[in-house]
Amino acid sequence: MFNLENFDIKLNTDVIGRNFVYTEEIESTNSFLLNKVNKFNTDGTVLLAEKQNNGHGRNNKVWYSTRGYNLTFSILLTNKKYLSKRFNILNFAASLAVANAIENLYQLRTELKWPNDVLVNGKKIAGILMESISNGIKVERLVIGIGINVNQILFQGNYNIPPTSLKLELNNIIDRERLLAEYLNNFEETLNKFEASPNDILKDWKSKCELIGEKISISEGESIRYGIFDDIDEEGFLLLKNNGKIEKIYLGDVNI
Ligand code: BTN
Repeated sequence: MFNLENFDIKLNTDVIGRNFVYTEEIESTNSFLLNKVNKFNTDGTVLLAEKQNNGHGRNNKVWYSTRGYNLTFSILLTNKKYLSKRFNILNFAASLAVANAIENLYQLRTELKWPNDVLVNGKKIAGILMESISNGIKVERLVIGIGINVNQILFQGNYNIPPTSLKLELNNIIDRERLLAEYLNNFEETLNKFEASPNDILKDWKSKCELIGEKISISEGESIRYGIFDDIDEEGFLLLKNNGKIEKIYLGDVNI
């Protein structure tokens, strides 16, 4: 059972998570907050679910998470100041904040993998899925969904990157309330930084991305591309260098 009081004591934010919604079961926290019909409009609303029946990740992959063991939640952003031209960088802000929260609390070294996976010891500990609704070219609502493997120790299913959890890495039961509060505190700080300078977010993110400069392959559906991971551009796209030419990659799974 998630202890709301313990969580609340540790939450230090002004906006993020001040409207906090807890539910036992839902289809997907992302889909719920994204849908206007559900009438959640407060900027910074956080929806946490113990179990998702249709939790999903990038490329429509299923996000598996055992009831009560992990953190599966979404953050709604409606304030126009975040929904600017470079809103894609919020993806990076969200994964960077996971990495920082884990390092602060547990002194575990984290690595970030493009576009926004968080790894510990080469295994995936958290994933982020950002979804938005636009009216023409204007983004109206933006939801950042985060799945962190916390106390789960058995993982079934097919994974691109082998999964791990904090419990597996530390051999200790993890306090989910403390971790969620630490994450949201960190995310708000990162958001403020984003407002001041999206480039600083990218810079911090890149410093934790070990594949930059390496030979990689990128697969997307049936297609596979090879080259050197040259850089990440201002909008967050991957720049792949091949035969002296740079190609911009919008989507895909990176492998070494
Ligand atoms: C990925 O690694 O592909 C992203 C996984 C994102 C999973 C989270 S769990 C909470 C939120 N609700 C969803 O349906 N997905 C995200």
